[in-house]
Amino acid sequence: MTTPPLTLGIETSCDETAVAVLDPEGRILINVLASQIAAHRPYGGVVPEIASREHLVALPLLASRALETVPEPEAVAVTARPGLVGSLLVGVRFAAAFAWARGLPLAAVDHLEGHLLSPFLDLDGGPADPVPDPALALVASGGHSSWYLLSGEAFRRLGRTRDDAAGEVFDKVAQALGLPYPGGPAVDRLARTGNPAAVPMPRPRLKDSETDFSFSGLKSAAIRLIRERGLAASDEASAPQAVRDLLAAFEAAVVEQLLRPLPLLVERHRPEAIAVAGGVAANTLLRREVVRAGERLGVTVRLAPRALTTDNAAMIARAGQMALLRGETADPRRVDASGRQAWQPPGMRSTS
Ligand code: KG4
Ligand code: ZN
Repeated sequence: MTTPPLTLGIETSCDETAVAVLDPEGRILINVLASQIAAHRPYGGVVPEIASREHLVALPLLASRALETVPEPEAVAVTARPGLVGSLLVGVRFAAAFAWARGLPLAAVDHLEGHLLSPFLDLDGGPADPVPDPALALVASGGHSSWYLLSGEAFRRLGRTRDDAAGEVFDKVAQALGLPYPGGPAVDRLARTGNPAAVPMPRPRLKDSETDFSFSGLKSAAIRLIRERGLAASDEASAPQAVRDLLAAFEAAVVEQLLRPLPLLVERHRPEAIAVAGGVAANTLLRREVVRAGERLGVTVRLAPRALTTDNAAMIARAGQMALLRGETADPRRVDASGRQAWQPPGMRSTS
């Protein structure tokens, strides 16, 4: 295979049911999703059983509606790992049946590979860009915060959080203030009117690694300050200045942690580009600071379009196209979901 096929992408690894179709050049022909946030909100995080049930209801409807408007797919790509096993299985079985019934090739995609490719997709109808080689890429989401090296056809992890993911700490601190789940976007908005210098925040450093980082100390410090100072913000509009200041300081510290390994990684790997993806890549301060760091270091920055930072199926279809080009196909009769035991849904990890 030298050009990728027109590909149907399916994503059900967590709490978004998503369907997309990409043409052979990686143009997004359709990209739709059904969010489950409202169904999980009363529980303060993603409830696995509710997620699977919602996917079961939403996926067939979403797929049939999406397929009405585009040419017949020539291949199917589906997220097979990592994620909630029950949720992954809904997508994987649907994709396998779809591919098997039509005799189409099937790609079983790693969700993170999808995120890594999202900065190279175009929301304005253009073709996907080739991934510069080598590139450094940060994925910061509710479940992951790692730096990768993209080179040739592989991606290798270079650094990671040792404890919580960045999105998770945004959500936990927002929750401690009484803000609704997921709190990342509200923290982003409130921090814009806060003064980061007004509140002291620790800058934890790991003694044994220059490329890994940690968020749990920061999270605990922010939650301790919230409790000591009796801070609360049940809705954004009435949030007091002290809350905005605390969130600005906290957000600045999170962004600093994420970007701390960057100069060293640039020096070591001499990348052609720095790419940033995942839900937290929607964060205003992170976007600004990465662009600044890129200018300082003389490296082009590729930010995922905001609408493709959170989970979506366009990135999965693109990762599937790349896998199919490499000749990696899955057998629809045997393909399985792999949840990885360590993976827990955002909002449902224990607070420490
Ligand atoms: O990639 P994603 O949709 O799901 C996972 O794979 O985890 O990321 C969701 C995470 C949530 O923790 C959410 O609070 C965070 O991304 N997030 C943000 C922003 N938008 C979403 N965090 C900070 N600032 C934002 N603007
Ligand atoms: Zn994700």
